Amino acid sequence: MNSVLIEGGTKLKGKVKISGAKNAALPELAAGLLTSHKVTLLEVPRVKDVETMLELLMELGAEIYVGEKIEIRTEKIIGTPREELFKAMRASVLILGPMLSRFGRAEILWPGGCSIGKRPINFHLMAMKKMGAEIIEETNKVVAKARRLHGTRIRFPRITVTGTENVIMAASLARGETFIENPAMEPEVIDLSNMLKKMGAKIEWQKEGVYIEGVEELCGTVHSVIPDRIEAGTFLVVGAVASDSLEIVNCNPSHMEAVLEKLGETGVEFSIKSSSIMIKGSKKFQPLRIETKEYPGFPTDMQAQFMVLMNFADGESEVIENIFPERFNHARELNKMGAEIEIYRGKAIIKGVRKLKGNTVLATDLRASASLVIAGLVAEGETEIKDIFHLMRGYENFFGKLRSIGASIKEG
Ligand code: EPZ
Repeated sequence: MNSVLIEGGTKLKGKVKISGAKNAALPELAAGLLTSHKVTLLEVPRVKDVETMLELLMELGAEIYVGEKIEIRTEKIIGTPREELFKAMRASVLILGPMLSRFGRAEILWPGGCSIGKRPINFHLMAMKKMGAEIIEETNKVVAKARRLHGTRIRFPRITVTGTENVIMAASLARGETFIENPAMEPEVIDLSNMLKKMGAKIEWQKEGVYIEGVEELCGTVHSVIPDRIEAGTFLVVGAVASDSLEIVNCNPSHMEAVLEKLGETGVEFSIKSSSIMIKGSKKFQPLRIETKEYPGFPTDMQAQFMVLMNFADGESEVIENIFPERFNHARELNKMGAEIEIYRGKAIIKGVRKLKGNTVLATDLRASASLVIAGLVAEGETEIKDIFHLMRGYENFFGKLRSIGASIKEG
């Protein structure tokens, strides 16, 4: 499927179940490299990026069983994965820490940039070097070697989610103690840490940072991936702008405080239970000023979706994108549907307009695709979204879930 056709204007109603978090599942699958024992993951979302990670692990030599649950057993490394698997997904960098600490060698291709901006891995390499790895940078790949990594104190130049995950995984088997002064604290990082602790890792989260004491070997475990807070946030915006009412179940509202706070500022009505949120659709929204920050701040992965909601606000809204300043490709496409969004370096100004009109638009990255789908659901007439494959990378059965609450979506 390379495009979808969405008939706008239907008032959606019903219940959607949130899937496991892609950004927790990816490092947790990579953590299967850290032991020769069986690691079992439940609630893994069946999305393209997970498929890519599984292919990477299999081509490295892991035995993988994929059914209701996913089982990984890595006795030894037998090969180097195909180049396209590294290019397809920046998160392929997550094999660096586990490979280096378990097998003493890692070979990764420079991850491709993507439409949300440059995606360097210099912080990852700096940290591995500090832990004793020899890093050889070649034209199209990086080779990292270490007889045995040793613990160290690390302060990243800026907070990095996968950089933190790589160091925690590497430090779990390193000799001695590691302390990360400014770790990412996203729920997905904490979930990975909880899984590693069940495998025998010694990890302690303190106020000032995270402390890891290396052990000789890790054992297997069974772990259930946390619900996807970004998918849940995406459906909250669907509910706000395109539904009568929508119940979002199997989510964790405690992971979504910044998003719920901003949603509250728009004046939308919603109620929260321990693992579900009920939201009522609205036509009137107060304008917002959103500034993306590392967790627990407002997530960069939610600003594209919120831009659709702000398009209907009574007044001018603003998004300041501090994580990926170029992450505004969705604005150009929304403007083709009648939005009035202007972009200045790292900042978007969104005028509140009354309506959007269906048009043919182009998906450019995962969250931009979701934003265009939401716009298509509320626009007048039909919207065709091309290159919709971007969305399949990170949303499980997205169109099936939307159809189950009344959306009219056809494959193009
Ligand atoms: C993770 O990417 C997520 N991906 C992203 O989600 C998310 O947008 C991002 O964190 C920020 O929350 C996964 O977890 C698989 P970073 P990551 O390292 O780890 C700079 C989605 O939509 N940086 O926290 O790659 C970087 O350029 C995806 O699901 C360096 O300069 O992001 C950025 O400006 C998109 N050098 C900032 O740090 C480095 O070595 C934060 O990036 C690493 C990062």
